[in-house]
Amino acid sequence: MVNRRPLIAGNWKMNFDHLRAVAFVQKIAWTLKDAKFSPTEVEVSFFPPFTDIRSVQTLIESDSLGFAFGAQDVSPFDEGAHTGDISAGFLKKLNCRYVIVGHSERRQDHSENDELVAAKTKAAVKHGLVPVICVGETSDDLEKFGASAVPVGQLRSVLAGLAAGSEIVVAYEPVWAIGSGQAATPAQAQDVCAALRAVIAEEISSESAEATRILYGGSVKSGNIASFMREKDVDGALVGGASLDAEEFAKIVQFPRHVIA
Ligand code: PGA
Repeated sequence: MVNRRPLIAGNWKMNFDHLRAVAFVQKIAWTLKDAKFSPTEVEVSFFPPFTDIRSVQTLIESDSLGFAFGAQDVSPFDEGAHTGDISAGFLKKLNCRYVIVGHSERRQDHSENDELVAAKTKAAVKHGLVPVICVGETSDDLEKFGASAVPVGQLRSVLAGLAAGSEIVVAYEPVWAIGSGQAATPAQAQDVCAALRAVIAEEISSESAEATRILYGGSVKSGNIASFMREKDVDGALVGGASLDAEEFAKIVQFPRHVIA
């Protein structure tokens, strides 16, 4: 069995300018250092706004902090007349490891559909970034179709035609759980994450399904992270609100110390 290294990803959304970003990452770094927590146990990644990335990169690299970082969105195009967009190539030049694609806030605010999310995913992979592909059902979808139908369909269309061997991360984020304080139950998250893993096996390969990390996102906090991480197909979390509080985020990252067998 492949050992999937857990990933805790902090999606800052449109919060923190670059000055606050630097102070925040420093605070996390010294909090985890004081706790003697090694980022080799769990991969920690920050997703700051575009304008913070250079500052976060400089801090992480110059002090060898061992954190990863990435962007919250990417253009499907390489370059050219696309005012306001940022290409995967530019992000790669800043040493981003990851980029979030298809977050429900972008699907809602910018009418992003699966076709566009697929194009963004391909652009990320082409430039050597790992896309964090977000899928999830709204409360209406949940009522009409149950939990897995919509995220499974979204993932299937995004993965169609993706080259075998491409590294991806998938994030299952029920839209009704995002920012609501009402997380899915660990059993619900497990069911959908298992269904998503089956889609990866069908669309890419069983090796890829086995190696891919699938995150749960939606009202994750220090009090519930351990219960999600006990589930066999949940390999980490995409954290929004709680990733903006240094002490809380540091506790989430240290979930292996709180897992009750
Ligand atoms: P939340 O957001 O943790 O604030 O619910 C999660 C996300 O949108 O990625």
